[in-house]
Amino acid sequence: MDRRQFLLGASASWATLAYAEEMAIAHHGRPMVGDVAQFVAPDLPLPAGQPLQSLPRLPLTTAPDGTLQGQLIAAPHTRQLLAGKDTLFWAYNGQLPGPLIDVAAGSTLDLHFENRLPQPSTIHWHGLPVPADQDGLPQDAVAPGGQRRYRFTLPADFSGTCWYHPHPHHHTAEQVFRGLAGAFIIRQPNDPLAHLPEHHLLISDLRLDADARIPANTAADWLDGREGQFVLVNGQLRPQLHVAPGSLLRLRIWNATSARQLRLALPGASWYQVGTDGGLIERPQSLQQLHLAPAERAEVVVRLPATPSSPYTLQALPYARGKMVGREQTQSLPLMQLVPHGQAVVTPALPELLRQISPLPAPVREQRVLMAEKAADGPVPVQFLINGRSHDPERIDLYSVQGETEQWEIINGSDMDHPFHIHGAQFQLVSRIRDGEETPEPWLAWRDTVNLTHAERVKLRIRQDLPGLRMFHCHILEHETLGMMGNLMVKAAG
Ligand code: C2O
Ligand code: CU
Ligand code: CU
Repeated sequence: MDRRQFLLGASASWATLAYAEEMAIAHHGRPMVGDVAQFVAPDLPLPAGQPLQSLPRLPLTTAPDGTLQGQLIAAPHTRQLLAGKDTLFWAYNGQLPGPLIDVAAGSTLDLHFENRLPQPSTIHWHGLPVPADQDGLPQDAVAPGGQRRYRFTLPADFSGTCWYHPHPHHHTAEQVFRGLAGAFIIRQPNDPLAHLPEHHLLISDLRLDADARIPANTAADWLDGREGQFVLVNGQLRPQLHVAPGSLLRLRIWNATSARQLRLALPGASWYQVGTDGGLIERPQSLQQLHLAPAERAEVVVRLPATPSSPYTLQALPYARGKMVGREQTQSLPLMQLVPHGQAVVTPALPELLRQISPLPAPVREQRVLMAEKAADGPVPVQFLINGRSHDPERIDLYSVQGETEQWEIINGSDMDHPFHIHGAQFQLVSRIRDGEETPEPWLAWRDTVNLTHAERVKLRIRQDLPGLRMFHCHILEHETLGMMGNLMVKAAG
């Protein structure tokens, strides 16, 4: 790397100071939290086991110039999940989850947004390379009763399994746990898996109190990140999907929970990962488990045996994520069932090569991001910091230059898992460092979210192709809302 260019990275000097300071904090050990309020989940007879509903599609009309036009209205929405009890959600277009946007690469969208919530809101297009002023940043909030249009053209070479959700200052966690999130798929014209039946599984968390209301966060939720007593797939509890024996199925899976780490397993069936956040990988990878951090997505292909005996249960295996207060997940959690049904079918083998991914070139600059916890006074006794600071919408924390590849080292200096996410571009993981041992990533993939366990580091390469303000943050939404987020300014090239 060119040393002069590295030093020119405007952030280098203070970041180095903050880093030293922060490592000192990180080595202090975990802050003491004492007694904090925790939610005690009532046992509620939420209906389960119904046929899986597909995600409703957002109606789009095509303008004469080819622009796809649609509208998303965020508003309170009431459902009766339990007989005689109203649950008040916040929803896009009255749908839970929000409507699916499913478009071809290179599309131009013009989406009218209306905010009928009692709080400011935005729509952030998670994972999509859209211009910074269309990306629903906290700095660009739409007031209650207000509206705006989000207009963007997607690059012709970008595809992926993305999503959208609110991103206003101080309210993101609440708006998402009350129901605001939807899936966004971008397809390549030459998709080698287009012939497979495809199903979408958007996984979210729901917490209900004894009156079937969605309660506010407790102090424990602000520390650990909120989990509900129900983990839903497309808004349903343990739905069932009927599938032909012997068939190959393409599944796109979203972890749209606020904080839950999903270690997914599908005992009895063979399955392969074929894609990550930013589209297909090069070759199918045989899976034992699929770890999806909060906000992360994957594409998988499932092959069911030709003579299946019983249903296959997609489940989340036990996982300890270093909570400060709450109990860890110690039991497997069934999420849905694939039920063999009808005549066996013969499907062609998976292609060996799905697409080619070019590795990003050698970086011209390095950046470092340290995620840490620090004791604080107040109802939430811990601060969640990035490079020693809490988010300030007015402060630029790091600078990049449009079109220049950078290597970022992300460090988890805390005792809890934190999923790191950055806006504006997809990145390629280079390596993971655990206990001083660096493991290169085994295969190339485009991602926008990566989980870091306790004391883990990752190196990634990223190139921002569009100028403007971008955020990077922990995607435990409570941590993001509390300020575990930084501002990146991408300077225009030239
Ligand atoms: Cu889905 Cu800034 O995040
Ligand atoms: Cu995002
Ligand atoms: Cu976090």
